[in-house]
Amino acid sequence: MSSIKDFVSSEFSPIKGKTSWASPSNIALVKYWGKYGDQFPQNPSLSFTLSKCVTTTSVAFKPREVKSDHFSFSFLFEGKQEAAFHPKIETFFKRIAHYCPYLIQHHLDISSSNSFPHSSGIASSASSMSALALAIVSMEQALNPELSPIQFAQKASFLARLGSGSAARSIAGPMMSWGETPAIEGSSQSFGTQLAQRIHPIFETFQDTILIIDKGQKKVSSTLGHQLMENHPYASTRFAQAHEHLKSLVTILSTGEMEDFIALVELEALTLHALMMASNPYFVLMQPNTLAVLNKVWAFRQDTKVPLSFTLDAGANVHLLYPKENKAVVLEFIQTELAGYCQGGQYIEDQVGAGAKKL
Ligand code: DP6
Repeated sequence: MSSIKDFVSSEFSPIKGKTSWASPSNIALVKYWGKYGDQFPQNPSLSFTLSKCVTTTSVAFKPREVKSDHFSFSFLFEGKQEAAFHPKIETFFKRIAHYCPYLIQHHLDISSSNSFPHSSGIASSASSMSALALAIVSMEQALNPELSPIQFAQKASFLARLGSGSAARSIAGPMMSWGETPAIEGSSQSFGTQLAQRIHPIFETFQDTILIIDKGQKKVSSTLGHQLMENHPYASTRFAQAHEHLKSLVTILSTGEMEDFIALVELEALTLHALMMASNPYFVLMQPNTLAVLNKVWAFRQDTKVPLSFTLDAGANVHLLYPKENKAVVLEFIQTELAGYCQGGQYIEDQVGAGAKKL
């Protein structure tokens, strides 16, 4: 599948069934920040697929008795009716309806839960949208068993992207890219691609310990954040830089050159925040404790030579990245020196994973 029209499924006779998926979150090393049109990225991005921060989503479907132009579904989040999520799902269904004509022919009972605390300030759109997209493509596969594994993965990523851009990168592990780049064969603006290049084995052992500096709701929604890039004075320079970074990162990932990895990943994180500080209106999303942690990380790295680095999302929390062989010494450092900067002393231990799983 390569052209968008290839993602439009045929119409099938409705059937009854049920499918469940667990899909992980991911953490971008080269950031997606800026989009256009129907959720296309302004630059390619690349992320580690995580393993413990997952959303599990089940979809039970059955033929609809009454024909209507409206979607018919119920939604339970962690076992409770959550009306607040309905408009988001409805919008998602409207966006993907053209590609999934079977949606309107069925009633769906959706139930979803996260492995991580809802109030941890961890963005869950990547795991939740990819889990829902995977369940919907499983439904399509029940209607059309001829869907090949490649078509399945590409369509799931394609649909996930229409729900939330970064969700396109949560399907497979240990790393995925999204957005067209000459550095990655088969890369696409429409769906994510599992990194097929040689990856130095050290990166498959990477840990991501997420320091919860602030549990609160995001101050800048990703929708607003991406909009800020529309008239941003540094936009074109940034998009060109991201292309260069992605190319360099692909080489670094194969050689395992740790100093170059750290320099590139931290520069990407700080660039994301610098872009927000230079937007109109401007936002500072780091908090004093974020900066205190970054200074501690730099000092620790200098003193111990342990390859500990950080990356940031569009928020105050810090993702600490390091190889598994350094886990004991890094966890000791986190417990003694960094946990005090976390809200309620909270941090989440995650690691690079193999991608979404059908349950
Ligand atoms: C900073 O994927 O949340 O995490 O497409 O509007 O849903 P929407 O945005 P979203 O943006 C993620 C931004 C980021 C960087 C990244 O994950 O690449």
